[in-house]
Amino acid sequence: MLPPPGPIPRHVAIIMDGNGRWASERRLPRPFGHRAGMKAVREAVEGAIDAGVEVLTLFAFSDENWNRPAPEISALMDLLEEYIAREVAELRDQGVRVHVLGDRTRLTPGGRAAVERVERETAAGEKLSLNLCISYSSRGEIARAARLLAEEVLKGTKKLEDIDEEAIRSQLYTAPWGDPDLLIRTSGEQRLSNFLLWQLAYTELYITPVLWPDFNRRTLRDAILDYQRRDRRFGKVTAS
Ligand code: IPE
Ligand code: IPE
Ligand code: MG
Repeated sequence: MLPPPGPIPRHVAIIMDGNGRWASERRLPRPFGHRAGMKAVREAVEGAIDAGVEVLTLFAFSDENWNRPAPEISALMDLLEEYIAREVAELRDQGVRVHVLGDRTRLTPGGRAAVERVERETAAGEKLSLNLCISYSSRGEIARAARLLAEEVLKGTKKLEDIDEEAIRSQLYTAPWGDPDLLIRTSGEQRLSNFLLWQLAYTELYITPVLWPDFNRRTLRDAILDYQRRDRRFGKVTAS
């Protein structure tokens, strides 16, 4: 598929939602929806590469998702390990560099090892940065940034008056990649669910009723085409 003709969002973020409803519609247990969602991740990655997107940040598992029933959590964690084991070689060959953002201390030892492996084995990728947000909460991320900066002030390596927006930005997990240009949420929910609250300040939002397992590169293309019709003013007045 040809890239959409027009400006391509450099950084796309996606809240991958609707796996459970996809499974329910088929009278299947929720984990079947999560499994079907793995294919959609592949579509998103390949679609992003084809379109020329440089950074793709995916919300895979929130801090709040730890409050789901234990069997669903363990199915999701097993799928994470399976996804990495299955895709790591392909991701490396595609030039994808994977980073996992979030509190990885809460993962199982197997999950942590898988995450470290995919980061290590894709470290040379230069085509697409793929950020997987796992055990991630945006308020947690901002609180962590505040703590890291407070530590520096206590140590005397930073002055209080140097704590500005740039200082906070530099301590977020997303510091190396900048803010998303486009946020996609699947399954029609019109909320952020504690995702990238700081980073989304001027991001264009695209909400589609498509359930995550049905997401494909065409859905991504539609989102980018919609993005290309937006007038990004950043609070200024458009020259006319
Ligand atoms: C998204 O699908 C995946 C995760 C949040 C882990 P859901 O599991 O939230 O599916 P719905 O929203 O219940 O349909
Ligand atoms: C947001 O989806 C988290 C992920 C997609 C990983 P949720 O399904 O957890 O969000 P809510 O509960 O609908 O807000
Ligand atoms: Mg959901």
